[in-house]
Amino acid sequence: KNINLCTSSDTFYNNFMTKLNKKFAVLGHPISHSLSPKIHQYFASQFSIDLDYQRIDVESMHFKKTLSDLKQKGYEGLNITLPLKNLAYEICDELSPRAEQTKSVNTISIKNDKLYGDTTDGLGLVTDLLTKNVSLENKKILVIGAGGASNGVMFDLISQQPQTIFLTNRTISKSHDMAETWSFLAKDNDVLLNVLSPKENITFDVIINATSSSLGNGNAIFPENLKGHFWYDMMYGKQTSFLLMAEQNKAKFSDGLGMLVEQAAAAFNIWHHQKPDTKSIYQIL
Ligand code: ATR
Repeated sequence: KNINLCTSSDTFYNNFMTKLNKKFAVLGHPISHSLSPKIHQYFASQFSIDLDYQRIDVESMHFKKTLSDLKQKGYEGLNITLPLKNLAYEICDELSPRAEQTKSVNTISIKNDKLYGDTTDGLGLVTDLLTKNVSLENKKILVIGAGGASNGVMFDLISQQPQTIFLTNRTISKSHDMAETWSFLAKDNDVLLNVLSPKENITFDVIINATSSSLGNGNAIFPENLKGHFWYDMMYGKQTSFLLMAEQNKAKFSDGLGMLVEQAAAAFNIWHHQKPDTKSIYQIL
């Protein structure tokens, strides 16, 4: 009898703790390198929130089933990273306007058995640039890349009302497709949107590398003789050839660690309705 009593109270305790710890996770493939658990735990500690934040490795083909399992297990929020952001956009029950337009979801909130998709990547990039005193308003910006990462930040780049956004990509036809996709929002915000022609000789205010060039084994292919005042690589933790070019240009530059932190802060705000302090995290990371 005593043993039974003890077991049932343990179960009660476990259920109680499971309820107490808010359950969150980051999903992607690969995922073992992800800094998101560390960042979210640190943010949560600022507000004494008890957080259980896991890394879950999931391949595209198992993604839908995994989402359904996590919903059943009582998870409240999920971050989504490569290569699942577009799939998450397709699976979510409801989408924010940002997620709708970028066709990308990196933050899911689970409420009343429904998946609400949002994306904070663009906000993360813009907030990090502003933190570094790089304003985009009325400026000439070059975005290199025409895949998920570059399209994922376009909504917020346009919202900053730069004078012109130039697009370029190794496969230039994709830049033309991208310009068409974003032409309506750009026009609405009085932003000129152009595909960079090889003949143009422009010194950009900001150059953003949104390619996955530093992940592959081949050489990074960028337009020749790039000139810019501030160079931003959305990758972090690597001395990329893009950042080397910035250094050779004697320009200011940054990797994307701040974007990672700020997109996490924006996701944290969506889930917990609190704005964490982001300045103090860099020492920990
Ligand atoms: P992501 O979600 O990271 O954007 P993606 O949708 O596969 O991934 O897009 C990758 C982007 O990086 C593309 O713009 C790609 O150029 P292509 O459209 O020509 O493939 C760009 N990219 C990948 N490797 C590159 C390299 N070595 N040099 C320059 N651009 C590269």
